[in-house]
Amino acid sequence: MDQSKNQVTAPIQRQQAHRDLLRIVIVGHVDHGKSTLVGRLFHDTDSLPEGKYEAIKAMCERRGMPFEWAFLMDSMQAERDQGITIDTSQIWFHTDKRDYTIIDAPGHKEFLKNMVTGAAQSDAAVLIVDADEGIQEQSRRHGYLLHLLGVRHVAVAVNKMDLCEYSAERFNEIERDIRAYLESIGVSPSFVIPVSAREGDNIARPSDNMPWYLGPTIVQSLDSFPTPTSPIHLPFRMPVQDVYKFDQRRIIAGRIESGRLSVGDFVLFSPSNKTVRVKSIETWPEGKGGPAAHGVAGQSVGITLDDQIFVERGEIVSGTGNPPIETDVFRARLFWLGRKPLEAGGQYKMKLATGETNVTVQSIEQIIDTTDLSHSGATQVERNQVAEVIIRSKRLVAIDEFAALPRTGRFVLVDKYDIAGGGIISMEGYADQRGLVTQRSTNITKVEHRISDDDRALKNGHAGGVLWFTGLSGAGKSTLAIELERRLFDRGYHVFVLDGDNVRHGLNANLSFSPQDRAENIRRVGEVAALFAGAGMLTLTAFISPYRSDRDRARAAAERAFHEIHIKADIETCEQRDPKGLYQKARRGEIKDFTGISAPYEAPDSPELTVDTAAHSIEECVDQLVAYVEANFRVR
Ligand code: ADX
Repeated sequence: MDQSKNQVTAPIQRQQAHRDLLRIVIVGHVDHGKSTLVGRLFHDTDSLPEGKYEAIKAMCERRGMPFEWAFLMDSMQAERDQGITIDTSQIWFHTDKRDYTIIDAPGHKEFLKNMVTGAAQSDAAVLIVDADEGIQEQSRRHGYLLHLLGVRHVAVAVNKMDLCEYSAERFNEIERDIRAYLESIGVSPSFVIPVSAREGDNIARPSDNMPWYLGPTIVQSLDSFPTPTSPIHLPFRMPVQDVYKFDQRRIIAGRIESGRLSVGDFVLFSPSNKTVRVKSIETWPEGKGGPAAHGVAGQSVGITLDDQIFVERGEIVSGTGNPPIETDVFRARLFWLGRKPLEAGGQYKMKLATGETNVTVQSIEQIIDTTDLSHSGATQVERNQVAEVIIRSKRLVAIDEFAALPRTGRFVLVDKYDIAGGGIISMEGYADQRGLVTQRSTNITKVEHRISDDDRALKNGHAGGVLWFTGLSGAGKSTLAIELERRLFDRGYHVFVLDGDNVRHGLNANLSFSPQDRAENIRRVGEVAALFAGAGMLTLTAFISPYRSDRDRARAAAERAFHEIHIKADIETCEQRDPKGLYQKARRGEIKDFTGISAPYEAPDSPELTVDTAAHSIEECVDQLVAYVEANFRVR
């Protein structure tokens, strides 16, 4: 044999620059055959260093032990640990179509931590399940991790089919179980493949032992997953690193994280929401400076603008067409590393890209216990736990969803000076607020009324105002509002109810119940209610208005005339009442985004008044409201 080919220490073949690359992670129960599968994959795709297989085989024969595919990986692992091979963290194999790298998943905790903090990222996953043993706790846990991290391309390898006589019945049974489980947590596996890693069935070659299986091999399934888009083809994002001032000019410096930029482009700064044209681009390729017509992902650049606008470090520059989300509240999956537990209500500094913002943990939605998968309602998150949390900032921040743009979709939380946690962002259940704060009308001037609020109040005998009822569907908002309207009218009030179901028949007929449309619903109603109040009316609004940010904007529109009233009833009570049968429908999955069931409700923090309809009769509640109005609006 050619000696030069027989070097066990030959570097594992490295990715060639011009070939596509897919990063995969192989997860599953420890004994379900991960190393065997990896060994097989390497061998059957001709990706092993020359002579490696033969050397291990010979070693086994010398020692009189049966050959195991796992030995191959053990020996490569040993070389990597000793730093003999060039790349110590990743290993490569290749098919005709492209190169693959297998992300190390030493344990689920490390894997999760690396993915959340950005140390590792995978585009696709193979979940191994033992045909004999079926789904085990660990398979479930790993399946859940994939869901948590938004890994969307998943193939399931049902391994050790040789141990159950390649039985189609057994495979069908496991396939049914695993699909049912994965789908219940929101993962839809692209393929479920019967394999024997040890015998090489359906790894790179279709198996003669399972003529009943007509689907792809593991390699074909991996090859069918799309190559991830290069960051250059993603939407343009450049977090502002620094702003340098030279005489009158300002140079805005940063690293382009994704997309591309050209001189003459209009760019948008977020969250300041300013649009301006790029005048010039300076690049710094390996220390050499110079003006350029374009900049692309991966480059650090300095840009000058046509207009002098005030810009700070931490803002995100984007194109005008596909900008980041602007919001003051979002959902995050958080990996907690802090010595002190994270607590609901806790305040931290959030670092996202180059920006720093003070944030509060509004709520801990669930602790995702990766050991037993229970989702406990908890008030604190311990070190090394993963939790789903809602985070709120005082001001609008610019962010992306992790699944769309990982670099601007992840953040860390800092407690004093230590990094205490890493998180990835999901906007599930929450709206992009950019549209709500962007003013498009220009060249407009306000006119002043010549009748003051006091004039109107004196004439009417009461002040105008907004009584903003918020609460779950079925809490009693409409019932109380309609009852109160009648009672106040009889007492001489100029009063009118704006009701969700009514307004959604007309003014807001074009809005759905998506987070985005609900926010717009409340924005419009908030403005209309403020106008009514300005006209001297006592305006009662009955809308779920589930988001704090939206109610705060409605408050800002009506200013001091705004009174937030929490019509309070717990979800169980509302579901029991179910006056319109909607909870039943929502439980059956016939209504999506249903508040309290599959969409969030953020109860008011400090409402002017709380009316508890679970504890009191309608009559009592209306009395309470009438007394409140008489005390606050009547002119004496
Ligand atoms: S809001 O969330 O945008 O404030 P709004 O108060 O206008 O909601 O409308 C709520 C009413 O719409 C409910 O009382 C119910 O009758 C009906 N409805 C229909 N679909 C939904 C849904 N997915 N979630 C909540 N309410 C719904």
